Amino acid sequence: MLIRTRAALAAVVLVALSPHVAPAQTVQAQVADPAAVARGKALFADTSLSGNGQISCAACHPANGHTDNKTYIGVDIVADGNPQGRSTPSLWGAGLRSAYSWAGTAPSLEANIRGIIVNRMKGPEPAPETLAALAAYVRALPVPRGPGMGDDGAPVAAASAGVKRGFDLFVGAGGCATCHQLPSFDKKEAENVGSGGAFKVPSLWAVSKTAPYFHDGRYASLAEAVKYMWEFHNAKLGTPSSPSAAELADLVAYLEAL
Ligand code: HEC
Ligand code: HEC
Repeated sequence: MLIRTRAALAAVVLVALSPHVAPAQTVQAQVADPAAVARGKALFADTSLSGNGQISCAACHPANGHTDNKTYIGVDIVADGNPQGRSTPSLWGAGLRSAYSWAGTAPSLEANIRGIIVNRMKGPEPAPETLAALAAYVRALPVPRGPGMGDDGAPVAAASAGVKRGFDLFVGAGGCATCHQLPSFDKKEAENVGSGGAFKVPSLWAVSKTAPYFHDGRYASLAEAVKYMWEFHNAKLGTPSSPSAAELADLVAYLEAL
């Protein structure tokens, strides 16, 4: 029942956004196969997917596919900012994304999940049905919208003035939306933003709950990540600048409202 509701909710969101981000068949697949979503939910908590029989997907993605806010090499927690480490992304709203894995190179969600099972969890080769069910579950995870936010990523009329100014900067002078494209806030192509290579443009829905930030978890706060991005973008344009305290506060207010 719960699963059915979740899948339906995600489907509604996908239908609303499909012209921009999601192929229609994704929507159909979710609506068509709630049984696969239910199987995927059970597999998500199944430790037999791991080589040592002790780790499930939910260990690192607790709270229905969210993030444990940690940085890993394999299944070992490492210090945030370790260049080989990768911070755990939230899977909330993953069905809307255009690319998977920090490298952005996974050809599909199924291929990405297979890589995690075989390479990260050192588990046995998963059956195609296992991958299909896990992918169905992940695709169906709803993206929680902040109360002041519309499905398109624009603040609703009742949102605070700071959130609205932050949105204007995000889609305007800040240049953020050139890479974090609304409404998914990501982009198909990886981008090199001078952080150690080319990485996926991460989706920003629920971003206030996904620290630490960047592929290696180098930033503990949204303000640090936003300041870096602002400075990178403006240096690239040939007009180096730092955000003013007010601009930074407004952008952070907007991101916190997502
Ligand atoms: C030991 C912790 C850990 C476990 C266990 C784990 N993950 Fe992850 N997951 C991560 C990390 C870290 C990343 C980012 C890795 C990267 O991109 O290089 C990730 C990335 C992902 C992504 C890509 C999301 C995106 O938007 O790029 C998906 C999907 C995913 N995991 C699903 C799963 C599933 C399904 C399982 C169980 C089969 C699982 N994970 C088990 C830590 C974990
Ligand atoms: C040129 C493309 C590009 C532009 C422009 C850009 N970003 Fe990013 N952003 C990225 C990439 C790529 C990453 C991931 C970097 C990494 O992991 O090393 C990222 C990461 C982030 C993160 C961290 C999210 C997370 O989950 O770790 C935040 C927050 C963010 N950007 C906000 C912004 C804001 C605000 C702006 C505008 C001031 C902006 N970005 C402009 C490409 C861009």
